Amino acid sequence: MKASVRHKYCSPSETQILEYLKPIPKPGEVLIKVIATTVNRTDVGVLTGKPYAIRLFSGLDKPRIPITGTDFAGVVEEVGSEVQAFKPGDRVWGFNDNGAGTHAEYVCFPDKGGILRIPDGVDFQEMVACAEAAHYAVNFINKVDLRPGMEVLVNGGTGAIGSAAIQILKAMNIEVTTVCFEKDVEKVKNLGPDRVIALDREDFTKENKAYDFVFDAVGKSRFPKVKPILKPHGTYISSELGPNWENIWLALFAPLLGPKKVIFPIPSEILSSMTTIQNLVIEGKFKPLIDEQSFELTQIREAFEYVASGKKTGNVILKIQQVNDVEKAVD
Ligand SMILES: NC(=O)c1ccc[n+]([C@@H]2O[C@H](COP(=O)([O-])OP(=O)(O)OC[C@H]3O[C@@H](n4cnc5c(N)ncnc54)[C@H](OP(=O)(O)O)[C@@H]3O)[C@@H](O)[C@H]2O)c1
Repeated sequence: MKASVRHKYCSPSETQILEYLKPIPKPGEVLIKVIATTVNRTDVGVLTGKPYAIRLFSGLDKPRIPITGTDFAGVVEEVGSEVQAFKPGDRVWGFNDNGAGTHAEYVCFPDKGGILRIPDGVDFQEMVACAEAAHYAVNFINKVDLRPGMEVLVNGGTGAIGSAAIQILKAMNIEVTTVCFEKDVEKVKNLGPDRVIALDREDFTKENKAYDFVFDAVGKSRFPKVKPILKPHGTYISSELGPNWENIWLALFAPLLGPKKVIFPIPSEILSSMTTIQNLVIEGKFKPLIDEQSFELTQIREAFEYVASGKKTGNVILKIQQVNDVEKAVD
C-alpha cells in the first residue's frame, strides 16, 4: 500500500510517499480501507514535533508511528478475532490525536478507540471533517458553564475549530458573535452565528459589549486585551499556548487577580466528542466547513505546507482511495 512516511520529526518537505506493507489487524483491531482523511493542525504538530510538549504523546525522540495522519473515514475490510462491534463492509470514521498512521491506503485501528460507524447519507469526506477540530471545539466549550441565552465570542470563524465551535454553541442556544476577515464574512454567516465582526474593520476587543465566554479558536489574541470585554465572571480560552506559554500560567494564576477566568483545557474523551458531533450531524445541526482546496495522497507535501501556512479555511481533505460500487450504494 502507499503511505506518507517520515522516520524523524521534520518539515513538510521531508515527508515521502512510500510502498509499505499492508497492515494485519491484531485481535482487538479493525483493518480499514481509507477513503478520505484530512491534513490538520494536529498533523502538523505530530509531523514537526512542535510545540515540544506534543512529543510526550507522539514519541520523545522520534515519532512513534512513521506514517503521518490522525483521522480517517473508510470501510472495514477485516476485523481481529476479538472484535465484535464492527464487521467487514461497515463505513467508519475515527481519530487519534497522538498520531494514527492514517495518511495511507489502509490502517489498523483499535475497536475500543475513537471509532464510530458513519450514519447513512453522510459521505466519507464530510464525516472525516468532523473529527479533529470538532473534537477540540467540544473540549474547549464543555469546560465552561454555559446556559441558553449566554453570550459568546468566537475569534476565528473560518478556522476548523472556530467554524465547529460556532455551530456547537448555536446548537446549545447560545448567542454567538464571531470574528473573521472581511473577505470571509458571507462564508461565516452560513455557519449560523448571530453576529459577525470583520477584524479588518473593527477591533473586537474595543467593542462596548461584554461576553460570558471569549473563545479564541485561532489563538491570535491575549488575555490582557480581551479581559475588558469579559463579563465579571467571564471565561477566556485560547487554542494556543500564547507567548512564553502565558495561557498556562494565566490559567493557574488569573484567579488570584479576580473572578475572570482563563482556562487552558487538555482535550480528552475523543469517542465522547465524536458521538456529540455525530448526533448533531444526524440532527442537521452541524456541517463541517471544508476548504475548497483538497489534495491527493501523492500531494502530501503540498497539503502539509498549505495547512502549516495558517491560511486554510476549515478542514482540508486528503483523498486516499476511490469508493467502489458496493460502498457507493451506501455513501
Ligand atoms: N490546544 C489544542 O489542543 C489545539 C489543537 C489543535 C489545534 N490547535 C491550534 O488551534 C489553532 C487553530 O487551528 P485551526 O485548524 O482551527 O485553524 P486554521 O483552520 O488553521 O485557521 C486558519 C484560519 O484563521 C484565519 N485567521 C488568521 N488570522 C486570524 C486572526 N487574527 N483572526 C481571525 N482569524 C484569523 C485564517 O484566515 P486567512 O486565511 O485569511 O489568513 C484562516 O482562515 C492553531 O493555532 C492550532 O495550532 C490547538
